[in-house]
Amino acid sequence: MIYNLLKPLIWKIDPEKAHELVIKLLKLNFLSEYTLDDTELLNVKLCNQTFPTPVGLAAGFDKNFEVFDKMFNLGFGFVEGGTVTPLPQSGNPKPRIFRLIEDEALINRLGFNNDGLEIIKKNIINKLDRFKPNKLGVNIGPNKDSHNRISDYIKCYKSLAKYSDYITINISSPNTPNLRNFENSEIDDLLSEINLNKKNEKNIFIKLSPDLDVKTFEKTLDKILSYKMNGIILTNTTISRNNNLTSSLSTEEGGLSGKPLTRTSLERISLAYKLVGSDIPIIGVGGIFNSNDAIDKIKAGASAIQIYTGLIYKGPGIARDINKGISEYLKRNGMTNVMQLIGTSH
Ligand SMILES: Cc1cc2nc3c(=O)[nH]c(=O)nc-3n(C[C@H](O)[C@H](O)[C@H](O)COP(=O)(O)O)c2cc1C
Repeated sequence: MIYNLLKPLIWKIDPEKAHELVIKLLKLNFLSEYTLDDTELLNVKLCNQTFPTPVGLAAGFDKNFEVFDKMFNLGFGFVEGGTVTPLPQSGNPKPRIFRLIEDEALINRLGFNNDGLEIIKKNIINKLDRFKPNKLGVNIGPNKDSHNRISDYIKCYKSLAKYSDYITINISSPNTPNLRNFENSEIDDLLSEINLNKKNEKNIFIKLSPDLDVKTFEKTLDKILSYKMNGIILTNTTISRNNNLTSSLSTEEGGLSGKPLTRTSLERISLAYKLVGSDIPIIGVGGIFNSNDAIDKIKAGASAIQIYTGLIYKGPGIARDINKGISEYLKRNGMTNVMQLIGTSH
């Protein structure tokens, strides 16, 4: 595959420049197409919709919705683009993405760099005919300097809900100061306002951090249920560094993702599933590098999973490999659909 030839080159350049290069290459269709097999085994019913596979691309890779249609061709059954803010914003000063190679991890402190609502809406509309039966999620957040962050969420929701299969309310990025207050002290203010503006048929997922203490996490889940949100995404990146990291870059500020997050996010999914059961679906994300990691997350209670850092380390074949690995596992165990696996480790 062309990617294997390009990888040594891509890994020599600055991570953000490498990302920009990959987005350009994707736009040029340099990656070969692949058709998903085993859709009978892999399709998942989630919030009254059928996802062709539970393997999705996490938010942050396609911030401006430039290449999400190409990602479906790599075997992702759903893609979450964004985070989108109402106004364009440039994010934090560079450098702001770091590869912790020894730890198979990344640290980023991008700070919601994106082209803003209006341009992104056009990008989505231009590709509207290109993604059925795959699903598109739109991850939204406030501008850093906004005087009314709640109204920023509502603006994005009102403008983009009709072009997406679900909206994710991102209240867990560590790179927008005080955003995580919405997970805790300000959650009622936000979710009540969202409820007022919610159109019934539109799914709203809430994305949480792995850093809440257990008591607060439980309270937050309760709130999410009581405001009748439709899904929980667990988890965003962590600000914790208690993971025996060996890379010299591990002290960089920002959110840590990849291998050091695998277990933490798995534990959060497991805890959430114990508390909410099948009342609300969980989308599991954090340090998924292969089909075993994905299966662990599903057994712990995730109805679907998402990948970001694993894609950077393993390359564009990762979704295809994970789909294949899950299918083989299901066949070996006499199962006829991946939904039979959800929560089975409990
Ligand atoms: C470079 C980078 C940028 C990200 N940007 C966003 C973002 O804009 N919005 C968001 O909700 N999550 C963002 N994330 C978090 C991922 O969606 C995911 O929750 C996290 O990285 C854990 O998954 P992983 O270990 O597979 O990367 C970003 C992650 C990385 C590595």
